[in-house]
Amino acid sequence: MVERGLQDARTLVTGALRGIGLATAVRLVAEGAQVLVTDLSPPDDPLVGQVLGRLGPAATYLPLDVTAEADWERARGWVESRWGSLDVLVNNAGTDLVGPVDQLDLAAWHRLMRINVDSVFLGVRSFTAALAAGGAGRRGGASVINVASIMGLVGFAETSAYNTSKGAVRLFSKAVAIEFAQAGKPIRVNSIHPGFVETPLLHIGMQRWVDQGKAARAQDLLDGIAAMTPVKRLAQPEEIAAAIAFLASTDASYLTGSELVVDGGWTAQ
Ligand SMILES: NC(=O)c1ccc[n+]([C@@H]2O[C@H](COP(=O)([O-])OP(=O)(O)OC[C@H]3O[C@@H](n4cnc5c(N)ncnc54)[C@H](O)[C@@H]3O)[C@@H](O)[C@H]2O)c1
Repeated sequence: MVERGLQDARTLVTGALRGIGLATAVRLVAEGAQVLVTDLSPPDDPLVGQVLGRLGPAATYLPLDVTAEADWERARGWVESRWGSLDVLVNNAGTDLVGPVDQLDLAAWHRLMRINVDSVFLGVRSFTAALAAGGAGRRGGASVINVASIMGLVGFAETSAYNTSKGAVRLFSKAVAIEFAQAGKPIRVNSIHPGFVETPLLHIGMQRWVDQGKAARAQDLLDGIAAMTPVKRLAQPEEIAAAIAFLASTDASYLTGSELVVDGGWTAQ
């Protein structure tokens, strides 16, 4: 059997109660990792029980609003006291904001930047020491995976705020990857750039276009996106989770500062 360095790895995933984050937690557990599942819900939310029931004893839940410094401090305290170090950090939590640039609200713009960009900075800052400790005994070091988007690579109409936030995640990842490598800190940092993935975020986003009268049915929009994608379909969250697991694993021991595009060929056009 090939050893991928995920057996008993200590991992933290943000926004992990649904969508890509949940699929990532499922995948990491399947590869033998311990997962600290984090999201906005309080621990007594039935969804938390349902997710933990699915993941089994390798998973623990901690509420973590990725925009809140105090929540990151609590997560750091949890990891240091229970595990002592961290092998993998997946900064996945994120949201969207659409609309013509001249109609975007500044408060909504700032909120998006807090959720999509500040989160990634706070996550890396909170866990640099714990990741350096985890990475010291691991081939290639510890791994940070920041979930960006193809919208961090190419522009789309009426998504300037989201494009900006994901472009920032891409370059933050590269800058920190170089900084850690030059400082001899055993932490790899990479960004991942999914195309259109069938998650609640995408479905809610499509419904918003319908509510604004821009399409008759959300399914028509999804079909349209699939038709414009070279492989003629959307991604499943599990396909993004598999790529995240690769970056998390020691198979990716020489990858740092890179951007992994998982988009069915969208940006190759
Ligand atoms: N779905 C797509 O097509 C797609 C494509 C490219 C990139 N992405 C990115 O992938 C990531 C996950 O997206 P998804 O489609 O699974 O979304 P989703 O909305 O289905 O799930 C996101 C999760 O993040 C959580 N979350 C939101 N705000 C949070 C906060 N402040 N603190 C902690 N948790 C918070 C939500 O509660 C939710 O559980 C995001 O960063 C998104 O931008 C998604």
